[in-house]
Amino acid sequence: MKDSPYTNTSRGGFNRREFLRGSGAAAAATALANGATAVAEAAESSDTIPLYGPGLTKITLNVNGQDRQVQVEPRMSLLEVLRNQLQLTGAKPVSVDGSSGASSVWIDDKLASANTVLALTCVGRKVRTVESLGGHKLDAVPTAFLHEDGMQCGFCTPGFVVAVRAFLDKYPNATEAEIRQGLNGNLCRCGTYANVIQACLEVVKGGVRG
Ligand code: FES
Repeated sequence: MKDSPYTNTSRGGFNRREFLRGSGAAAAATALANGATAVAEAAESSDTIPLYGPGLTKITLNVNGQDRQVQVEPRMSLLEVLRNQLQLTGAKPVSVDGSSGASSVWIDDKLASANTVLALTCVGRKVRTVESLGGHKLDAVPTAFLHEDGMQCGFCTPGFVVAVRAFLDKYPNATEAEIRQGLNGNLCRCGTYANVIQACLEVVKGGVRG
């Protein structure tokens, strides 16, 4: 059987197969060297950075002002832990990338999508959910949603309530145009936008009276 031109060594020089073999070996050597460096760096940093997993790890999360112990795998999102372990089911799993706004919560007073944040990264931070706006004295935002009928199926509503509360805390005198702009990260499949805007304007004017 004749060698293919690419494997014929009789002409001298460096054939393709040898080249691939050689470059493969070089790549493997580089990878090994990089791997060794990464392992050395990880060993060095492990003195300061805690390592978790791969199994369940017990951590404490501060949620709605209370320290709560939970068991998490490194892959678990904050949303999974809130809903499945802490029974805080206000934030909803609608979009995996947080684009619906349905899993909105506060982390250290900043708006965040709970399904795009790993629970482990919330250790030492303050998490606040829509449930913090309920209780004996209902916050003005959910009150206005009720008054203005700002929901249908209600699946998007907790995310909207958190987003509205966060937005109006920052811009208490927002205009309708500003509210529309400020809430463009939240989606409602039932199309309740008009009533949601009315609820916001009601809060701007001082909330529901009487
Ligand atoms: S009320 Fe149904 S998705 Fe918004």
